[in-house]
Amino acid sequence: MPTTQPGGALLNAVHRTPRARRYLLCRPTHFAVEYAINPWMREDADVDTALALAQWEDLVRAYRDHGHTIETVQPAPGLPDMVFAANCAVVVGGRAFGSLFHAPQRRPESREYEIWFKAAGYDLYRPESPCEGEGDLVPVGGHLLAGTGFRTTRAAHAEVQEHFGLPVIGLQLIDPYFYHLDTALFVLDDGLDGGDAAGGPDSATVAYYPGAFSPGSREVLRRLFPDAVLATRDDALAFGLNSVSDGRHVFIAPQATQLIDQLTARGYVPVPVDLSEFHKAGGGIKCCTQELRP
Ligand code: ARG
Repeated sequence: MPTTQPGGALLNAVHRTPRARRYLLCRPTHFAVEYAINPWMREDADVDTALALAQWEDLVRAYRDHGHTIETVQPAPGLPDMVFAANCAVVVGGRAFGSLFHAPQRRPESREYEIWFKAAGYDLYRPESPCEGEGDLVPVGGHLLAGTGFRTTRAAHAEVQEHFGLPVIGLQLIDPYFYHLDTALFVLDDGLDGGDAAGGPDSATVAYYPGAFSPGSREVLRRLFPDAVLATRDDALAFGLNSVSDGRHVFIAPQATQLIDQLTARGYVPVPVDLSEFHKAGGGIKCCTQELRP
């Protein structure tokens, strides 16, 4: 007999179907915390580089064990944040929209990723306005959710809408600890599976922390995703929303304990992967992962 969970979800009643994904990552060969461009970063941070490498390898292994394909970009010396592959572009329908970093320290990363995209046969678009890829641009249900407030600009939202011809839904971030959209929201189900071939927000589901957004943006999210999983501030601060879902498995920080329970109650299968060394730079699982959508 299925049992009812708080929130009305039926445990064991839903079977979630995963879809195999292709992810681009960057080995943290040169990872360090050398400057502070978000509240998590301390110039005197003590990063255990061997542990960071082992944690990143755990993430790659977890993806492969669940049937996903991993591509890697060549890490460049002098670019300690290059491991955060999500920030370099957003790829939808096989088309790549590149990055222009807000912080001068990160600007050279765009060029390094561009080399990979060109070699892989993508015609990469270079934005004219500051834009940090999937850090702030989240495709879901035939739309693009687009964060702004700290990094990606409204002007870039207009550019990305023009480029893809997809409706862009701007969301105002208000808390410096959640400076990228992907620190406060992730897609559980992108609405591209399960009978509804066209996708659409109706079949899509996200998880988010409402406190990271302005009141108006919170209202937008509530209207678009009435069934969203709402996370606590503690779970958001544990990088629980910087997760990656394949529609069934959710690769998630083990520190986000309540969120893990909420997801389990909804029929998802949490796969804990600890990236604690990367939290010192303000990044987690999703930050390290660029999804190459066909
Ligand atoms: N230190 C990096 C920065 O502040 C972390 C980027 C994290 N990436 C992300 N997708 N949230 O830019």
